[in-house]
Amino acid sequence: MHNTGVAKRPIADKPELYQEVAAELDSLLSGETDRVANLANAAAVVFDRLPELNWAGFYLLQGSTLVLGPFQGKPACVRIPLGQGVCGAAAVRRASICVPDVHAFPGHIACDSVSQSELVVPLLLDGQLIGVLDLDSPRRARFDGDDQAGCEALAAVVIRHLASAPPA
Ligand code: SME
Repeated sequence: MHNTGVAKRPIADKPELYQEVAAELDSLLSGETDRVANLANAAAVVFDRLPELNWAGFYLLQGSTLVLGPFQGKPACVRIPLGQGVCGAAAVRRASICVPDVHAFPGHIACDSVSQSELVVPLLLDGQLIGVLDLDSPRRARFDGDDQAGCEALAAVVIRHLASAPPA
């Protein structure tokens, strides 16, 4: 049987899956310094490799607003003020937020009515907030502690590669 080595894994193997995706991401982003290109490929890898997502991508901080960056999924709201929505809350807290039921999160911004749960990880470069990684799922309670730790590790890989690149 053909085995690409990067096929989607059962969700039970989460830590192993995230290790694989982090390695794939690291390899894919290595040697490229263009921020938009690296964020675009990172969004594509996350969306393609992690199961049960309907949206994955980045919002980048411009002043006090998060502005839509490279993503995969349906068109999304473009500007999110700091402090608003799950993205804005994670940005202000500078900590990832796992939301099992987006309808129960005060101020949640519904870009795609299919989304039921969400995970947002802030991107901190040399202590500065530069944006967030946002994942949406059509399944309620899709994300758990393994996903939170795994996506924080993925964000760290992205940040490491952005560190060597001039700002987009
Ligand atoms: N739901 C997010 C907005 C971005 S979309 O999910 C792509 C929020 O509440 O911040």
